[in-house]
Amino acid sequence: MVKTLMKYIGGYWKSSVLSMLCMLGEVVAEILIPLAMANLIDLGISQGNLPLVFRYGTMMAVCALFGLLFGFGGGRFAAKASSGFASNLRNGMYESIQRFSFSNIDKYSTAGLVTRLTTDITNVQNAYQMIIRMCMRSPMLLTMALIMTVRISPKLSVTYFIAIIFLACVLGFIISRATKAFSTVFTKYDDLNASVQENVTGIRVVKSFVREDYEIDRFQTAIDSIYALFVKAESYVCFNFPVMMLTIYACIITISWNGAHEIVAGRLTTGQLTSLFTYTMNILISLMFLSMAFVMITMSVASGRRIAEVLSEVPTILNPEDPVYEVADGSVDFDNVNFGYGKRKKLTDWDNPEEVAAMKRRARLKEAVRSGKMTAAEAIAKDPQFQAAEKEERKPVLTDIDLHIRSGETIGIIGGTGSSKTSLVSLIPRLYDVTTGAVRVGGRDVREYDLVTLRDAVGMVLQKNQLFSGTIYENLRWGDPEATDEECREACRRACADEFIRKFPDGYDTWIEQGGSNVSGGQRQRLCIARALLKKPKILILDDSTSAVDTATDAEIRRVFREEIPETTKFIISQRISGVKDSDRIIVLEDGKISGVGTHEELLQTNEIYRSVAAVQAEGTGDFDHGNDHVRTHGREV
Ligand SMILES: Nc1ncnc2c1ncn2[C@@H]1O[C@H](COP(=O)(O)OP(=O)(O)O)[C@@H](O)[C@H]1O
Ligand SMILES: [Mg+2]
Repeated sequence: MVKTLMKYIGGYWKSSVLSMLCMLGEVVAEILIPLAMANLIDLGISQGNLPLVFRYGTMMAVCALFGLLFGFGGGRFAAKASSGFASNLRNGMYESIQRFSFSNIDKYSTAGLVTRLTTDITNVQNAYQMIIRMCMRSPMLLTMALIMTVRISPKLSVTYFIAIIFLACVLGFIISRATKAFSTVFTKYDDLNASVQENVTGIRVVKSFVREDYEIDRFQTAIDSIYALFVKAESYVCFNFPVMMLTIYACIITISWNGAHEIVAGRLTTGQLTSLFTYTMNILISLMFLSMAFVMITMSVASGRRIAEVLSEVPTILNPEDPVYEVADGSVDFDNVNFGYGKRKKLTDWDNPEEVAAMKRRARLKEAVRSGKMTAAEAIAKDPQFQAAEKEERKPVLTDIDLHIRSGETIGIIGGTGSSKTSLVSLIPRLYDVTTGAVRVGGRDVREYDLVTLRDAVGMVLQKNQLFSGTIYENLRWGDPEATDEECREACRRACADEFIRKFPDGYDTWIEQGGSNVSGGQRQRLCIARALLKKPKILILDDSTSAVDTATDAEIRRVFREEIPETTKFIISQRISGVKDSDRIIVLEDGKISGVGTHEELLQTNEIYRSVAAVQAEGTGDFDHGNDHVRTHGREV
C-alpha cells in the first residue's frame, strides 16, 4: 500500500526533502539556544561581564531567527508537498474511477468512492504533512537534547530516561486505545455519506412519501453513533496532555532538587541548570508530538488502504491486445450466452449490525477458501449459510441466450421487471462481459473491438438516463463533440424534442440543471435519445426510454426511426405492447430466458405470456407486470 501511494508523491519529492532539511535546521537552532543561554548566565551575568552577555545574547537572537526561518520554511514546504501529494492522489483516483468498467463500479458504492476521494485523502494528506514535519523533527530534537543533557550532567540525565520510559508506556497505552476507537469511526463515515448521498439525491422522493421525519431519525442515529465513537476516542487522547504536564513538572522538581545539590557541590553551574530545564521541555514535548503523529498515522493507515484499493483496482474490461477499429455493420449475435453479475459490495446496513458481521465473516471465509487455507467443507462447517450465500452472489441473470439479428432490424424486447432486459442489452456495448458464450457485433466478438470504436457504434439510452449541468447544446454534444447546431436540431427533431425545446425562452441554450431536474421526465428521455442519435450509431438501444412519453409521441419517434434511419439496428425495450408491436421481431423475456421470438402476430399465436399481456393491455390496464401477474394467476387456476 505504501508503495502504491508513494508513487503519487511525484514531483513533490523536492518539497518533501527541503521540508525535512528545514526541520533539521530548526532543531539545530533550538538546541543551540539553551547552550548559549547557559554561557550567558555563567560567563556573562554571574561574572558581570557585559560584552559577553551581549555576545551570547546576539548569538541567541540569531539562533532564534534562524529557527524561525527554518520553521517557517519547513512548514511551507511540508504544506506544499502534502497538498501536492493529495492532489496527485485525487487525480490518480479520479482517473482510475473513470477507467472502471460497470462491474468495477458495482463493487464500490458511490458513497464509498466519495468518502475515499474526500475524507480519506484529507487524512492521508494530514498524516503525510505530519510525517515530514514531526517525524523528522521530534526524534532529532529528542536525541540531540538527550545528548546535550548527558554532556552537561550524566547523573541528572538519568531522570530524563526514567521520565521517557514512563511517558512512552502511558502514551503507548492511550494511543493503542484511541487508535482502535478511531478506526471504527472511519468505517462509520462511509455509512454516513451513503445516507447523505442517498437521501439528498432522492430528496424529492423522500418528500413525496413524507418520509422526512423517518430519514431525519435515521440520520440522527448515524450521527449519534459517530458522536459517541469520537467522544470515546478523544477521551483517551485528552489524557495525553495532563500526563505530559505531570511528567514535565515531576522532572523539573527532581532536577531542581538534585541540581541544587550539584550546584552546592560545585559540579554544576546555574546556567547549565537553566538549560537543562529547557531541554526537559524539548525532550518531553517532542515525545508528545511523536505520539500524536503516531495517532494520525494509524488513523490514516485505514484511509491509505482504502485509497490504494481504488488506485490498484484493475478495470475488468480492457482493450484487447490487437483491437479492431472498424465495426462492419449493425448485426448482433448472441451465441449461447450465459451471464451473471459479480458480487456486489453491499452498503453496511445501519439497522442490521448482525447482517454486517455475517457478511464480513463470510468474506473472510471466502478469502480463506480462495487462498487455500481452508477447504470449502470447513467453511460450510463454520458457517452453514456460506454455500447459499456464494450461490446467491453468482446467480445467473441470463441463461442460454441464442439470438441472431440482422443489421437494420428493429427488435422489440418485452418482459417483466427483473426479467433481465437491461442485462441483455448491456452486453452489446460491452458494459459487462458474458460469463460463457459470446456476443458478436458486425460478425466479430465484442471483446475483439477497441472499446471506443465499439461504444461509438452502439448508441444506448440507459433506463436510468442522465443529463449533466450545461446547456442543451452541450448535453447533446456528448453524442458528438463536433456536431453542428444544425445536426443537433436534426437529432432533436427525430427524437421529437425539437418542438418543446423551441418553446423554452432560451431554446437550445437553455441551461440544464444537475441531473436534468429542470426538465420533465419525458423531455429528459427525448433529449437522451437525441444525444444517442448524434453518435450516428450502427446500433441504437432504447432501454424503456419512452416510458414517460405519451403514446402518440412514442409512436411518432418509432415512425421517424423506421423511415429515417432504416440501416440502424434498433433495440426497443418497453413495458407497453404498443411500444414494440410494430418491430420486425419481438423477444419475450422471462427470468433471464427467452420465452418467445417473433412478430406481434406470431407471438399472439404462439406465446401465452405475450397473448395475455396483449389482452390485458388492450383493455387499457397497466403495464407488462400486471399482465404477467394475470398470466400466473390464470395459470394456477387452470
Ligand atoms: N449491477 C447489478 N449487479 C447485480 N445484480 C444486478 C445488477 N443489475 C441488475 N441485477 C440483477 O439482474 C436481474 C435482471 O435485472 P435487469 O436486467 O435490470 O432486469 P430488467 O431490465 O428486465 O428489469 C435482477 O434480478 C437484478 O437484481
Ligand atoms: Mg431494466
